[in-house]
Amino acid sequence: MSASHPYDAIGIDRLREIGSYKWSTVPGAIGAFVAEMDFGVAPVITDALKATLDDGLTGYLPPRVARAMAESCSRWQRERYGWEVPAERIRHVGDVLTAMRVTIDHYTVAGSKIVLPTPSYMPFLKIPPMHDREIIEVPMLVEDGRYVLDLDGIDRAFAAGGGLLILCNPFNPVGRVFTRDELLAVSEVVARHGGRVFSDEIHAPLVFAPHRHVPYASISDEAAAHTITSTSASKSWNLPGLKTAQVILTNEADVETWAIPAVTRTEQGASNLGVIANTVAYDAGREWLDDTLDYLDGNRRLLGELLAEHIPAIGYTPPEGTYIAWLDARSLGIDGSPADFFLEEAGVALTDGAACGEAGEGFLRFILATPRPIIEQAVRQMAEALARREERPAA
Ligand SMILES: Cc1ncc(COP(=O)(O)O)c(C=O)c1O
Repeated sequence: MSASHPYDAIGIDRLREIGSYKWSTVPGAIGAFVAEMDFGVAPVITDALKATLDDGLTGYLPPRVARAMAESCSRWQRERYGWEVPAERIRHVGDVLTAMRVTIDHYTVAGSKIVLPTPSYMPFLKIPPMHDREIIEVPMLVEDGRYVLDLDGIDRAFAAGGGLLILCNPFNPVGRVFTRDELLAVSEVVARHGGRVFSDEIHAPLVFAPHRHVPYASISDEAAAHTITSTSASKSWNLPGLKTAQVILTNEADVETWAIPAVTRTEQGASNLGVIANTVAYDAGREWLDDTLDYLDGNRRLLGELLAEHIPAIGYTPPEGTYIAWLDARSLGIDGSPADFFLEEAGVALTDGAACGEAGEGFLRFILATPRPIIEQAVRQMAEALARREERPAA
């Protein structure tokens, strides 16, 4: 862990003054529940955004600007993950969840069910019902303390009418980065049932060595044939408010479907500023990302040390990727929601794992993309709340 970093000096007062979603929606609390970063914006991106505004390039998105982003994303995929994907196959949308909605509506059989490994990112549970789709939750298994996909469960889910697997890699909330062999095993199951995969790779740039991101559609022709991939620079460079993500199409039939006007129209959700910010992030934001990733690497370890010292009853395995920590609070003996307890008693706003499906009950999501002194303060406040509870006379 590096000794000290300029991010350490970003204080809570300043974060409240800026008033991001995380720091303004739960007044008075330490915001650790939304996947946002507290580290500002990479200066190369700020410069590009300022130049865009100075030029007044705020009309509709010019095709050459969109094309530049597709090319930069294509270069990023090749150079960072070794995946050759032509720029012509990379499209733009406003966000990854829009890509998922389009996939459900236009790339799956009407009425087919959504196969969802859990605990899952919360909107994956909420969105399919809005499209009249039933979800089959497939709880992950824990092997040697590590979450793994339940392939037999996924197999059964497809057999029971599943049409689309939502694969999140790196996996929010449990932080797994799936290996090529794990992905190959998934693709065998999906292909056996003629199923489809929506591969959400929004956290792909946020992977800690020695783990490596493997794009799912890159592992075989079979996987490419059944997958819609979506990614964005939005998590890794903190740009989600600029509304831009990429959809990567990996077979001709999917390209044809994208040409349906109702589908192509979703491209209009991407903003000029977002497209330009994503382009610059992929092309010129590596130094900032690598430095930030190094800091996050320190944060995930620091949280482990702090919990071991102050709240050893919380179970925690540092994430392999993402800046999301998944905390097992089941043995704390808290009645009801542990997130409510820590919000009310410790002033720390976390996500309740129950929002991630039944498999998440008793767990918490803690966002690590924050200055280290804030992680220390959050754990201290949580430990003190637990100590006060111990001291309270039994009712
Ligand atoms: C796995 C995952 N997918 C999608 C999103 C949302 O992305 P977007 O704002 O591009 O829809 C998030 C945000 O945290 C996420 O963690």
